[in-house]
This record gives sequence, structure tokens and C-alpha cells, in this order.
Amino acid sequence: MAEIKVPFFKPTIGDEEKNAVLEVMNSGWLTTGKITLEFEKEFADFVGSKHALAVNSNTSGMILAMEACGVKAGKAVITTPYTFVSTAACAVHLGADVYFADIEKDSYSISPAEIEKILKKDAENGHKVVAIVPVHVAGNLCDMKKINELAKKYSTPENKIRVIEDAAHSFPSRTKNGFAGTLGDCGIFSFYATKTITTGEGGMVTTNDDALAKRMTVMRLHGMDRTTWDRYTSPRASWEYDIIEPGFKFNLPDLLSAVGREQLKKADEFDRKRKIWVQKYNEAFKNLDFVNLPPDGEGNSWHLYLLRIKPDLLDCDRNTFASELQQMGIGISMHFIAYF
Ligand SMILES: Cc1ncc(COP(=O)(O)O)c(C=O)c1O
Repeated sequence: MAEIKVPFFKPTIGDEEKNAVLEVMNSGWLTTGKITLEFEKEFADFVGSKHALAVNSNTSGMILAMEACGVKAGKAVITTPYTFVSTAACAVHLGADVYFADIEKDSYSISPAEIEKILKKDAENGHKVVAIVPVHVAGNLCDMKKINELAKKYSTPENKIRVIEDAAHSFPSRTKNGFAGTLGDCGIFSFYATKTITTGEGGMVTTNDDALAKRMTVMRLHGMDRTTWDRYTSPRASWEYDIIEPGFKFNLPDLLSAVGREQLKKADEFDRKRKIWVQKYNEAFKNLDFVNLPPDGEGNSWHLYLLRIKPDLLDCDRNTFASELQQMGIGISMHFIAYF
């Protein structure tokens, strides 16, 4: 294995994160508690959302959001085939069908025209679609205005269509209309180890809808009608709670929220530095005829710098090109491999 000279990603963890974790360890309260409540509040303020719910991954946040939006057996979601497996798998776990709307050639974003084709057919076939799940791939935003309009146009009084943004790649993508993840009914962020801010594993769900927030809060912790923090800090006995429905175990512990709070303070600085590197990459690659530079829409937060290889202009295939880069110690990945 070649020495890694340019890693695919290296998290920036300082003394602030380390000290914050130590403080939690010394406090005697490791699981979800007041540090997580603070993290949620700070995240909600940052992106301008009414509610923010900390979860242990984007994947679990997506399951919560879909469940709250009525994704279940007999229903369907529309999403993009150009995404990580979890986006569609969450709908499958809930027993729903997944309809794939293809992407636009140049933006790599889900195509509103393709979404509408599916919605038209679905309206003729009895309205199974309850959610559209756009993914802001690499940090570059989908056309949220058109997607929200389509959800409204094809909703019926009996079957409301929600927009759930997979914002795993898009913190902090900021547009004149607000942050990615706050432009639909729910937004799901990821704090996985390679993301623009990280807690190792983790995520956040944002929404302005009180009913969705309430449902997701209950389902995040076993379907209990009380949070752990409330059970151990309020005068009411900790064992007194009701189970409203069998729920999940998707909460983020204070140990990880402590890291998230420090990372959040640095998010603007990380974003600024990332954009300097994007300029350098653009300069370096702009005259290479065998690559397309990445799409760059409003507010792109550049989680990934996507170079599209044109194999017909190379004397090797894509996989050989990728493995030669790795041999040179340059960390790359393929987002995402198509299976035929
Ligand atoms: C587009 C997309 N959605 C969702 C996820 C899942 O995120 P997590 O690992 O936090 O569950 C990923 C993971 O990288 C992703 O790339």
C-alpha cells in the first residue's frame, strides 16, 4: 500500500473537542442530556430552523423523518438513484416502495421533470407517494423551489406529499432562501467521520413542523412519552412513562454532542478554508480535457469535489485511473458506483 500523501478526508479535531469530551466524562452523565439539548439549540439557531433533533446517524434520522411523514407499507417515496444506499434503504425498512427519478446530466441533482413524470403516473394509480427525498449531492443544492411546488401540486387532502431533504452532504450549504435542510418539511444532516463537521457518528434532523418534531422525538427513544433527561431530572418518578408505540433507539449521547458543539463553532471557518481549496483545485484541473469540473450551484458547501472522468479521452479505464491515483498516495473515492 502506497504512503497516503493526500488523504480522502482528515477531521480537524482540536483541544476544544478533546476538553469538551473530558468534561462530559467527568460530569457523570454520558448519554443524551443537557449537552445534547444545547447542541440541538445551537444547531437550530445556526441553520434557522424551529426544531433540531440530534440522532446517532443520518440514516436513523431519515427513518424517523420518513416514519413521521407516513412512509409505510402500501406507500412510496421518490428519490434519486445517485446517492448513498441508505437514502432508499430507509424507505425499504419501513415497508414502502421506492421510485427512482433520474438525475440531471450536468448538476447530478434529481430532475424535477423526472419527478413529475412519476407523480403523474402515481396520481393515476391511486396516490401512493407520500415523500420526495432530494439529495444535495456533494453539497450542491437540488432545485428545491420546483420540488416543493411539485409536492404541493400532487398532494391531495387524503395524501399529503412531504419533502425530506437528505442533507448528509450539505452542511453548511447556505442560499438566499435559507440553509439546505431547512427548505422542505424535514432536513437530515450527517456528522459521520468524513463530513464537513463530525461527531464520529451522528446526525441532526431539522423541521419547522411541530407535529413532525413531536412524533420524531417520541420515536427516537423507544416510543416513550418522556426523554431520558426529563426522566432523571424532573421530580416525577423516572420509571413513570408511557410507550405510545414501539419506537427506535436513535438518540445522540452527550459524549458525541460535546464534539458536535465544538465542531459547529468552527463550521464557518472550515467552510471558508474548503472554498479556498476548491479555487485551487479548479485552477489545477481546468485545462485537463479528460475531466469535467464539479457543478457549482448557489450555496454549495463542497463536502466532495466531484471530478467526472471521461474515459474515452484516457488511455486507461476509470478503475485503473482510480487505482493509479491510490498508488500515488492520493485518497479518492467513487460517488456513487452504478449497478446495472
Ligand atoms: C447522501 C448520503 N445520505 C446518507 C448518508 C448516511 O449517513 P450516515 O452515515 O450518517 O447514516 C450518507 C453517508 O455518507 C450519504 O452520503
